Amino acid sequence: MNGKETVLSGIRATGNLHLGNYFGALSKFVRMQRDYDCLYFVADLHALTTNPDPDQLHRNVRSIVAEYLAAGLDPEESTLFVQSDVPEISEMYLLLNMHVGIGELMRTASFKDKARKQLGIKVDETDEDNIERQIIGSASNKRVNAGLLTYPTLMAVDILIQKAHKVPVGKDQEQHLELTRRFARRFNSFYGVELFPEPANFDFGGKPVKVPGLDGSGKMGKSEGNCIYLIDDEKTLRKKVMRAVTDEGPKTPNQPVSPTVENLFTLLELTSTPEVVKHFRDAYADCSIRYGDLKKQLADDILAITLPIRERILDLQGDDATIGRVLRRGAEIARERASRTLAEVREVMGIRRFY
Ligand code: ADP
Ligand code: TRP
Repeated sequence: MNGKETVLSGIRATGNLHLGNYFGALSKFVRMQRDYDCLYFVADLHALTTNPDPDQLHRNVRSIVAEYLAAGLDPEESTLFVQSDVPEISEMYLLLNMHVGIGELMRTASFKDKARKQLGIKVDETDEDNIERQIIGSASNKRVNAGLLTYPTLMAVDILIQKAHKVPVGKDQEQHLELTRRFARRFNSFYGVELFPEPANFDFGGKPVKVPGLDGSGKMGKSEGNCIYLIDDEKTLRKKVMRAVTDEGPKTPNQPVSPTVENLFTLLELTSTPEVVKHFRDAYADCSIRYGDLKKQLADDILAITLPIRERILDLQGDDATIGRVLRRGAEIARERASRTLAEVREVMGIRRFY
């Protein structure tokens, strides 16, 4: 459309958005709006793979839409929609599954992690390949649902049905993107068509960011329970930052920085000015640093980003009329485009009407 490349991305409706989602995904969505033809959605069907409470799921969809708008996604500029509002996605998911192997799905890292988690199976490094015995053959009477297995098919359809070129996501989603490219190539070559472009991840030149947790762990994430949320109030947020894990402090000049303290610097680099970062790096190098000052600065700088977003989230969350209007318009545009691709896919596969 209008010569611009198509961008598509989504976030599962599984809870409030945190700084990891913001720096890894949402802030990129906002920056791409002007230069690309952008579609952003809330992945409610993907959230079903972990069997959420139905009322909670509905509330989560609303809060993510409010967070998208509050962070600066502009419905005049981007198409914002909910995955389940585009039923063409579900139909194409059935069709594409006919070209996806269960073996390749079972070997996907996210499936193995989630399936093992659901069954309470510990990772056995020595038996990494014997996934069937571990998951299908589990003695437990718990089940791993088929939706979890076919998660990558659904994600590929989200992308391919809009013929997207660029998909801004964090590093953890790269395997899913690799599968999407493989499915696109396979479909094109099986039917001898050039229907789908091969989508690529997108970052503004730099390497994809990984936002660390403040508990000394590697990654900020919902299931890690170490998140700073965009919706956190000032008191809660300051408390979380002041409690961040550090160490005893540098004892000798230019001592290497420990991983836990490096996490604080990483967050500071994402939220503060280069001068502020340099001030604290220098203070670390000459051993004059006080972690309390660093944390106070970090809390101030995070709050400068999140508090205005929080105000807008609170306004929007009670405003179902605005949310409804945005989503209705977004669904119309997304469906229009999706139904064109679905018609092509049906024709190519031989699903043709007699009337
Ligand atoms: P979570 O890991 O909290 O469950 P999701 O899997 O819903 O988050 O991720 C939604 C988007 O946010 C994805 O594009 C993902 O790559 C990105 N993301 C999540 N956590 C981080 C993080 N700590 N650093 C960078 N990006 C992240
Ligand atoms: N799997 C993504 C996540 O967990 C969410 C997602 C679903 C997605 N469909 C997508 C992301 C299509 C980009 C494009 O974060």
